[in-house]
Amino acid sequence: MTNNLKYFIGNWKMFGNHSSLKIVYQIHQFCKKFKKQGKKNKIVLCVPNTLISFFSKKLKSKIVYIGGQNCHHQENFGPYTGSVSATMLKNSGAKYVILGHSENRAEGETKQMIKNKIQSAMNQKLNIIFCIGETLGEKKSGKTYSVIRNQIRGSIKRKAFFKKIIIAYEPVWSIGSGKIPQTIELKKIFKFIKNEIRKKYNTKNIPAVLYGGSVSTKNIKVFSLIPEIDGFLIGGASQSSKKFIDIIKNYYK
Ligand code: PGA
Repeated sequence: MTNNLKYFIGNWKMFGNHSSLKIVYQIHQFCKKFKKQGKKNKIVLCVPNTLISFFSKKLKSKIVYIGGQNCHHQENFGPYTGSVSATMLKNSGAKYVILGHSENRAEGETKQMIKNKIQSAMNQKLNIIFCIGETLGEKKSGKTYSVIRNQIRGSIKRKAFFKKIIIAYEPVWSIGSGKIPQTIELKKIFKFIKNEIRKKYNTKNIPAVLYGGSVSTKNIKVFSLIPEIDGFLIGGASQSSKKFIDIIKNYYK
């Protein structure tokens, strides 16, 4: 990313009901005012499927976007109990979808399945937040770079996909744990991801690469000093409008 556009993406996980609309409205109100200060950012809230349609109908302006957190690899309808396709997400009003989150990989989601999901989401013109990251065991055995390289190569077919893909580097050991990588490590990993995409796909369209894992109102300042980071995928802290807003405020402080 050569411009200064920063992403703040909330991943609500299994959280929220209709009354959570007030959280969405508070974030929306803040971002509306904040936008006037000339900061270039994209705000997305990835919420449970049960809330996508409700929230998207309430939010008419293009200040906060609503996304889903996963989709089935079959694009339309099919005999998949409990699943939702990319077409269904799109029709509910989602503009984004998180794919390859480690919580889903841990449930058996394979690189091939993610590849198919990415294809379905691409066909539906959804923006994709593609999650990658190593486990603690992989980190300890020095496999971080090979793991993330394989995750990218195993699921992204063509360079054209990068027009709609945002990468979220989320070390699994950092998610929900309060632990974050060292700045020096992060700089190296972000450079590696961008170089890897440049070389392997022979493209100049390098996607935005976000950081995710225990992002908080306190540690955001540390991340803001790392220019390689194009934004954040925020889990727990995005379930509170105050925390999510304070993360954005503190980032620019
Ligand atoms: P966390 O989650 O911010 O609660 O660590 C991040 C994520 O899982 O996307």
